[in-house]
Amino acid sequence: MYKVVSTEVIAPSVHRLVVEAPRVAAARRPGQFVIVRSSADAERIPLTIADADADAGTITLIVQAIGRGTREIAEVPSGGALRDVAGPLGEPTEIRRVGRVVCVGGGVGTAVLFPLAKALAEAGNEVTTIIGGRSEPFVILRRELAAFSKAVLTATEDGSLGVKGFVTAVLAEILADPARVPAAVYAVGPLPMMAAVAEQTRPMGIRTIVSLNPIMIDGTGMCGGCRVTVGGQTKFACVDGPEFDGHQVDFRELANRQGTYAEHECRLSNARGENRS
Ligand code: NAD
Ligand code: FES
Repeated sequence: MYKVVSTEVIAPSVHRLVVEAPRVAAARRPGQFVIVRSSADAERIPLTIADADADAGTITLIVQAIGRGTREIAEVPSGGALRDVAGPLGEPTEIRRVGRVVCVGGGVGTAVLFPLAKALAEAGNEVTTIIGGRSEPFVILRRELAAFSKAVLTATEDGSLGVKGFVTAVLAEILADPARVPAAVYAVGPLPMMAAVAEQTRPMGIRTIVSLNPIMIDGTGMCGGCRVTVGGQTKFACVDGPEFDGHQVDFRELANRQGTYAEHECRLSNARGENRS
């Protein structure tokens, strides 16, 4: 069992949990994730290790309560416990000092972006962060990212914070200014967002890394559930990723695969009376 030290709601339906997991906290590197089960018969949920404190033996997980499995994790109270925290899994981010980098986070994907941006800044890069959401309450980790970013720029779809529109509108402004063009871009968020960022940087040949979250089951390369096509080759996001060259990812295929169980999940949720919103 893994004790939940603290919990906090940081945006509507988005919860931050600090969990006692000393072995994971000591071994994890930025970009890696864990697979969590709240109880013995619960669904296995992959969650990025948003942060870790090796001295305290804790890791930070950020979970968006969107289905039964994520809701059960989000509802574990402070002082409660998670049944399993397996990891760290996945390839760590390749952190290089390249100079100027832009990190783009869409909605709850910002939680995945956070450890990458932090590690890039610690490696001596100048990090500009762009984060966005539907409206101000959905823009997460602004203060935490500001601690090491040269600037944190925001975009909201209703204009309640920062630029009105998508994060890609802010990125377009940066790419149009020769004095601000970065050596690399890191993007994490909804698939259409990451695909759009990759198309923005492709003509300029800017290295663009995206973090994919396809359907995962075992998280160890055995089931094939997280299969993605990258540069014409089949990769497994859980062991070869989750980060890949955004210019090489077949986003169309991935979007089709992501939707495979949507109808089934919706029917299941309706049957359980879980579609409350
Ligand atoms: P959301 O749909 O509210 O989008 C958040 C922001 O992303 C938007 O405000 C906008 O700035 C940007 N965005 C969305 N669609 C875009 C597009 N077509 N073009 C340009 N920018 C766009 O996101 P949410 O509800 O907070 O998060 C849920 C989504 O995030 C799910 O799709 C989930 O799969 C994804 N997600 C991805 C990861 C990952 O590791 N890649 C991790 C967690 C969640
Ligand atoms: Fe099974 Fe990746 S989750 S192969």
